[in-house]
Amino acid sequence: MSRPVRIAPSLLDADMGRLAEEIRAVESAGVEWLHLDVMDGHFVPNLSIGVPVVAGVRRHTRLFLDTHLMITDPARYAEPFVKAGADSITFHIEVASQPVPLIRQIRELGVRVGVSLNPDCPVERVLDIVGLVDIVLVMTVFPGFGGQTFMRDCLPKIEAIARCLRPDQTLEVDGGVNIETAPLAVAAGADTLVAGSAVFRSGDPAANVSALLSAARGGPVK
Ligand code: DX5
Ligand code: ZN
Repeated sequence: MSRPVRIAPSLLDADMGRLAEEIRAVESAGVEWLHLDVMDGHFVPNLSIGVPVVAGVRRHTRLFLDTHLMITDPARYAEPFVKAGADSITFHIEVASQPVPLIRQIRELGVRVGVSLNPDCPVERVLDIVGLVDIVLVMTVFPGFGGQTFMRDCLPKIEAIARCLRPDQTLEVDGGVNIETAPLAVAAGADTLVAGSAVFRSGDPAANVSALLSAARGGPVK
């Protein structure tokens, strides 16, 4: 059974000085999820948004705040992000020495739980725990920066995870999604496509979301 496809715009490539307007633009395209990229300068070689920005975004929208923690200590920061308004917390398996207690901790905060894996992380690292999470986030670039090229060699990993998931779980793909690569991710089994630069870097964000959705569904791109 295939799940409906959604686009989750990543605010990393939005105009940070006009975040509320950027959010309104993608809301007008009918998106349900916003993807928030949190970086700590340790797990990835970059810094991005933190707890106060998530709280500010929350004040301006009722969209589902899909919070991607690219940080070395997700157990320490999960609660502040939930208090700020996150609706899901996704941690990276590469930093989780005890994923099962971490999943339980996040779930007790009352939000959805996600696990992410980098392009060089074998699928076997998550197979034991995919049944315990709500979201599996497959990175198709090495995280840290927007605007990178989709790594097609990650497609077999998306297919392998898709075979393990229940219909109520989300298979999300993050990195280099555009109108050419969106159909590949969906064909491999993804239902949620994160897109940063393809939505916000040029043109009209709402039109960009519509074009991505159309491409992802295999329709004509206007
Ligand atoms: C990568 C982030 C992504 C990224 C997506 O470090 O996790 O969410 O910003 O940006 P694009 O769509 O430009 O690859
Ligand atoms: Zn992300």
